[in-house]
Amino acid sequence: MRLGTPLSASALRVMLLGAGELGKEVIIALQRLGVEVVAVDRYPNAPGHQVAHRAHVITMTDPSALKAVIEAERPHLIVPEIEAIATEVLAEVEGAGLAEVIPTARAAQLTMNREGIRRLAAESLALPTSPYRFADSQEALQAAIDGGIGYPCVVKPVMSSSGKGQSLVRGPEEVGEAWRYAASGGRVNQGRVIVEGFIDFDYEITLLTVRARNDNGAIQTYFCAPIGHRQVNGDYVESWQPQAMSPIALARSREIAAAVTGNLGGRGLFGVELFIKGDQVWFSEVSPRPHDTGLVTLATQRYSEFELHARAILGLPVDVAQREPGASAVIYGGIDDVGVAFEGVDAALAVPGADLRLFGKPESFLKRRMGVAVATAGDVDEARRRAREAANRVRPVRAGPD
Ligand SMILES: Nc1ncnc2c1ncn2[C@@H]1O[C@H](COP(=O)(O)OP(=O)(O)OP(=O)(O)O)[C@@H](O)[C@H]1O
Ligand SMILES: [Mg+2]
Repeated sequence: MRLGTPLSASALRVMLLGAGELGKEVIIALQRLGVEVVAVDRYPNAPGHQVAHRAHVITMTDPSALKAVIEAERPHLIVPEIEAIATEVLAEVEGAGLAEVIPTARAAQLTMNREGIRRLAAESLALPTSPYRFADSQEALQAAIDGGIGYPCVVKPVMSSSGKGQSLVRGPEEVGEAWRYAASGGRVNQGRVIVEGFIDFDYEITLLTVRARNDNGAIQTYFCAPIGHRQVNGDYVESWQPQAMSPIALARSREIAAAVTGNLGGRGLFGVELFIKGDQVWFSEVSPRPHDTGLVTLATQRYSEFELHARAILGLPVDVAQREPGASAVIYGGIDDVGVAFEGVDAALAVPGADLRLFGKPESFLKRRMGVAVATAGDVDEARRRAREAANRVRPVRAGPD
């Protein structure tokens, strides 16, 4: 293992596919280790573009565009930050030994489609999940519900994230609307959905799981302290660490996370999403990359999830220790505008234990995540209050003329 000098013949080059707020933090972590970083996203001046050595704007679902940028940049490592990528190109590149895909091309392929990862978890690995079926039409969806899934249930496009196209269905009268919403909210492959039985969980967690080299050079699995979070319409609004858990629920969560990440393989950090009720644990899904709810680790851990990912993918040792309890709260755009300004940053940073990240997104939308407040405190409840208070004090406003 050796690192080089960026922009020289010795440079270690890493390409991020997706350069949003999570990618931006991974890039900063890589930059600190002298890695040469290329950031790719679908729009100009994405958060990660602003901190990389080079930036590219392409449609990442377009195989020829993706191939062209990889051939032009010749990265040593390719790090997917989003799911919507022409993953067949990643498989081809990995197969030809042109670059290493993080964690593996197969992991990127399986996790971009709910069907791939769900069948792997439930059918191949026999992990507990919600009951589920797949459907390609409204009639098939109705039949799946009538045939055993029942009500309430959750309908999701097989390819979507952040709750897009997802709805809770309480009775037969809501099936048609859920079908139409899913068919319009999916990324590609429109019209295939998963319908899941609703799990009445006590709480849900993200278990950040790291596959990294240990002192002997072997890949070892490490677990961060569990992160609790609250989702509204399938999108995260606040998270905290640690989430209190029974010893049995924590042990089961780790077993499930180890099984699924062990199967996906490679090196890197994974966000394993789990539902918990008492001592019972269900696997929900996994991201083979840093997780949005893990933004809290910017405040709570010795190394944030982004630094852990950077270290793990470079083959460096990791330390997943948590330093203190903390929380994160999302700052939404609140307005639709370009080049917005942020007021109240001074007031937000006056909240004890609070810190901020403003992502630098060129365009704000009402419900777009524009920043996050993080806070630490002696306990999680106080940290949540502080993070929410700091987030509430930041107000995106129209910039207006000078
Ligand atoms: N079967 C279920 N039972 C109960 N709640 C569910 C179920 N499926 C999803 N949810 C709720 O909806 C949220 C979003 O679901 P899921 O993680 O599958 O979607 P997503 O669009 O991939 O979200 P993201 O990409 O932001 O993680 C979950 O975190 C959970 O709160
Ligand atoms: Mg999720």
